[in-house]
Amino acid sequence: MKDITRRKFCAAALAGGVAAGAGKAFGAALPATFSEAAQPQQEATRQPGPTTGKRPTIISAHNGLRHLDAGMAVLRSTGDTMDAVLAVVTPVEDDPNDNSVGYGGLPNEDGVVQLDACVMHGPTRRCGAVGAIERIKNPAKVARVIMERTNHTFIVGRGATQFAIDQGFEPMNLLTDKSRLAWLAWKASSSKDWRPGLDAPDFNKQLAELLDTPERQAWAPWIKQVVAHPPTGTINCLAVNDKGEMSGVTTTSGLAWKISGRVGDSCIIGAGLFLDQDVGGAGSTGRGEEDIKIAGGHTVVEMMRKGMSPSDACLEALHRVVHNYDFDKSRLKMFDLQFYALNKDGAYGAASLWSSSGNGQPLTYAVHDGTEAKSVPFTPLFQGTGGDY
Ligand code: GLY
Repeated sequence: MKDITRRKFCAAALAGGVAAGAGKAFGAALPATFSEAAQPQQEATRQPGPTTGKRPTIISAHNGLRHLDAGMAVLRSTGDTMDAVLAVVTPVEDDPNDNSVGYGGLPNEDGVVQLDACVMHGPTRRCGAVGAIERIKNPAKVARVIMERTNHTFIVGRGATQFAIDQGFEPMNLLTDKSRLAWLAWKASSSKDWRPGLDAPDFNKQLAELLDTPERQAWAPWIKQVVAHPPTGTINCLAVNDKGEMSGVTTTSGLAWKISGRVGDSCIIGAGLFLDQDVGGAGSTGRGEEDIKIAGGHTVVEMMRKGMSPSDACLEALHRVVHNYDFDKSRLKMFDLQFYALNKDGAYGAASLWSSSGNGQPLTYAVHDGTEAKSVPFTPLFQGTGGDY
């Protein structure tokens, strides 16, 4: 990176505390430049995670909050960290009302739900991943089977579905009535061929016609939202037991209305998830393409290996995304991305590119540090709301 580029980037983007963390990552060569340049432009409200942790601890994306108690119960009984993270994400995959993961996840442009997931197991230093799998609602469990029963690490597409069926997974239709109707509304919004013909008497009423019961009518605001702003959703979960053993998982239905066969970061070891038993683990939610370009999960773990706190390590990964756009906020504003990190001592942290969701509420993630499951705000890099490009 040229010196001038780095100065411009830091001046505009970084908070003082953030810059202090980033200084460690970019080396001691330019610490003065970082702090001097960053002072006038602070944006992020610094909310560092704890520097010393507790064990056992589990962290996840916000949609795992209700299930952290189940994960903690596993850690307390058998201590198996892989069972614990799956105890958190499996009910989210099973939930028809979570439209970003598993059953009920929003489909691709062909109306087919394609799921991505991966797992990493610290003690045995193994991993498994599955991409664009269809008709199987628990891709995280399939990723575990790939890890435990095959000599491969990553199976995709038709082969992945057939593999899962051969291993005893039950195939099913992953579209719910709600996700099917949302897809039809998206088709109608994107192609005139999927709207009533010009000769139809009720030409302008296609959405109203689809939503023909009170229950379906209640879905209309949500359908309009996901048609206009295709979500990426996802759940990442990381766990450490009382001995310091770790596991991680990330699972998703990916970007709504994607091109068939598109896989995001959630099944990419090193992007949507990375874990090194010597250091800790990290995962991601949000726009997978940006995460893949910086190998985000791996970046976060390597920053922790160099001594960064989990929060600072997550911010460092976000700095790299910002750098990829040369700090062009008009484009950065069009997406969001979050990183989660847990080290082997139980210290945790998470950072988001933007601070708040569409309704202006602070973005949060979920933590259980042995006492209770709670929501914790991300450390944001920028104040404001990112889009769903
Ligand atoms: N992070 C989920 C995806 O981009 O597919």
